[in-house]
Amino acid sequence: MAEFNSQPIKFAYWVPNVSGGLVISKIQQRTNWDHTYNRSLAQIAESVGFDYALTQIRFTAGYGAENQHESMTFSQDLLSVTNKLKIIAALLPGPWKPVLAAKQIATISQLYGARIAVNIVSGWFRGEFKAIGEPWLDHEERYLRSEEFIRCLKGIWSQPAFSFSGDFYRFHDYILSPKPQTPLPEIFQGGSSRAARDMAARVSDWYFTNGGSVEYIQKQIDDIRAKALLNHHQVKIGVNGFAIARDNEKEARAVLQDILDKSDFDAVKSFHHEVQNAGNASPEKEGNWAKSTFEDLVQYNDGFKTNLIGTPLQIAQRIIEYKKVGVNLMLLGFLHMQEELEYFGKNVIPLVRELEQQAD
Ligand SMILES: Cc1cc2nc3c(=O)[nH]c(=O)nc-3n(C[C@H](O)[C@H](O)[C@H](O)COP(=O)(O)O)c2cc1C
Repeated sequence: MAEFNSQPIKFAYWVPNVSGGLVISKIQQRTNWDHTYNRSLAQIAESVGFDYALTQIRFTAGYGAENQHESMTFSQDLLSVTNKLKIIAALLPGPWKPVLAAKQIATISQLYGARIAVNIVSGWFRGEFKAIGEPWLDHEERYLRSEEFIRCLKGIWSQPAFSFSGDFYRFHDYILSPKPQTPLPEIFQGGSSRAARDMAARVSDWYFTNGGSVEYIQKQIDDIRAKALLNHHQVKIGVNGFAIARDNEKEARAVLQDILDKSDFDAVKSFHHEVQNAGNASPEKEGNWAKSTFEDLVQYNDGFKTNLIGTPLQIAQRIIEYKKVGVNLMLLGFLHMQEELEYFGKNVIPLVRELEQQAD
């Protein structure tokens, strides 16, 4: 078992910049995707102890996400109304080229004081690529491209003049000025396959993965950390979870059941069909969603598997179990984002902090 990390576990939430909420269900969701709602949400989040907010990048609809605000622009808007929250902007290599991404992020960092980070996503939605006229690479190639993308971002940001000769990108003494403020923007990556873990162990600052049991997450962490050690690289781990915190467990479980009972059958089915391109597409057939059931997919990043469902104390204890195996950050979604994130911040995070102190 990994050593108990002396740093407090960090909390992030999914920015609902895509419509439809965080579950593919016809249950009433008071989560809104517009900027007014999201500005208040970000302000609530930083006032109740959240460290990060993660925006999503989607170019087309699918499983009901009919409207999608662009991630980089939206991240900047949230930075403009907050003071300490870090915003992680999702970037998809293909539509984005590293030079433009590096320059946009450098300017945002200059404007908002090193609070911008990026999440490099490698693509799972073949129909989306087709719709926007981007070539669809196979799984290994998608990750090779993402790795080059990350190496370019880091090089452009840190080297006085950057040169690179890869299979996807080339640079010749490129001088970016101004560079981002320091510390340089953190680089997260999303995905759960072997290729994702290999990339994290080489270049990323953070490995973000879908929800899973403590044992499943521990296996991934052990694999990444062993590989990272060989590469003399350090990588932190973030895990997705969908939290339902209520004063008693029965009530929380009833909410989960209601979400499942009202799931949007057609949308979940078509999502299942699409994600086969991601999960099963990896040579080992073990990426995100490869083993997800219909019920798992109702939360589209397997957030129910993390089982953060129950009383604040039960949830806090469960989070400590993840921390004990090496998790550094919990990424969270909620049914009614504003109300439930606030409840979580006020009732669960303080308990996590108490348990951390006891464990230390
Ligand atoms: C936390 C997290 C956030 C993600 N965010 C996005 C996103 O905003 N847009 C997107 O197209 N894919 C997103 N993905 C999908 C991944 O980038 C990746 O394409 C998918 O997980 C399949 O990779 P795998 O086969 O390595 O698991 C995200 C994945 C995770 C785990």
